[in-house]
Amino acid sequence: MSKVTVVGAGNVGATTANVLVTTQVADEVVLIDIKEGVSEGKAMDIMQTANILGLQSRLTGVTNDYAKTADSDVVVITSGVPRKPGMTREELIGVNAGIVKSVTENVLKYSPNAVIICVANPMDTMTYLIHKISGLPKNRIIGMGGALDSARFKYFLSIALGANATEVEGIVIGGHGDTTMIPLTRFAAYRGVPATNYIPAEQLEKVAADTMVGGATLTKLLGTSAWYAPGAASAQMVAAVLGDQKKLISCSCLLDGEYGESDLCIGVPAIIGRNGIEKIVEFDLNEAEKTAFKKSAEAVHKTNEALKAAL
Ligand code: 2OP
Repeated sequence: MSKVTVVGAGNVGATTANVLVTTQVADEVVLIDIKEGVSEGKAMDIMQTANILGLQSRLTGVTNDYAKTADSDVVVITSGVPRKPGMTREELIGVNAGIVKSVTENVLKYSPNAVIICVANPMDTMTYLIHKISGLPKNRIIGMGGALDSARFKYFLSIALGANATEVEGIVIGGHGDTTMIPLTRFAAYRGVPATNYIPAEQLEKVAADTMVGGATLTKLLGTSAWYAPGAASAQMVAAVLGDQKKLISCSCLLDGEYGESDLCIGVPAIIGRNGIEKIVEFDLNEAEKTAFKKSAEAVHKTNEALKAAL
């Protein structure tokens, strides 16, 4: 029996629960929110959808009763406020740090062995915060950002290449921020062939630039931050853990010397399986990529420093 808890029944949390139900990844899903009735309502709506689709799934919505989340194998933390147009993810730290702290404490009280997937923004810093307050082994806390940013990279790549997105390779490392993420253009490929064999370098740079502001573009269009792809990316990570898929996914990991960094959660390629982060994969970065990573790490360190003031 596998059990997943999704904390936060806002757009991202509800979409995560919806994808988990429709892809039948877990035996049981619990959607929990502090707001009276919201998680119950969304769970009911999703379960009625599952019935229409003929799916055997179990999703329960609960208001703030963490006892109902007990013994979850994976917990996805989406709580906190999303950004509004014109805001950076980093600006959310003041509100979200306190929320993520209390959610983590509640979650661990009932599911001490869970793998935690952090979605709340600023995502790398919130992942770091969960490490700091939980003291859990570093493999069991994963930040979701790189999975989403890589999906956005592949989306823009597929359009530029005129290719099927499932046949395109693209990975984004670094921080989950408009200026900190690093779409690795050198590794972008169409069926193993470098993307630059098909499109000019300038066009590939434009793909990278569009990827970096991918979340901001959607926030501007929607008036709030995106939820379909963030929810699907979170569910993809849950599936990788529960299914012990050993899938290489870019995600925020606590580094201990890898990529020359320590005491920092930031996006790097990692093998995700039943133990969470099974292994961090060290790509052979060139000098420019190393410099970009160092710059990104410095920015994330700086946001982490703001944690002290926020808590
Ligand atoms: C995004 O990039 C929510 O940070 C998330 O859309």
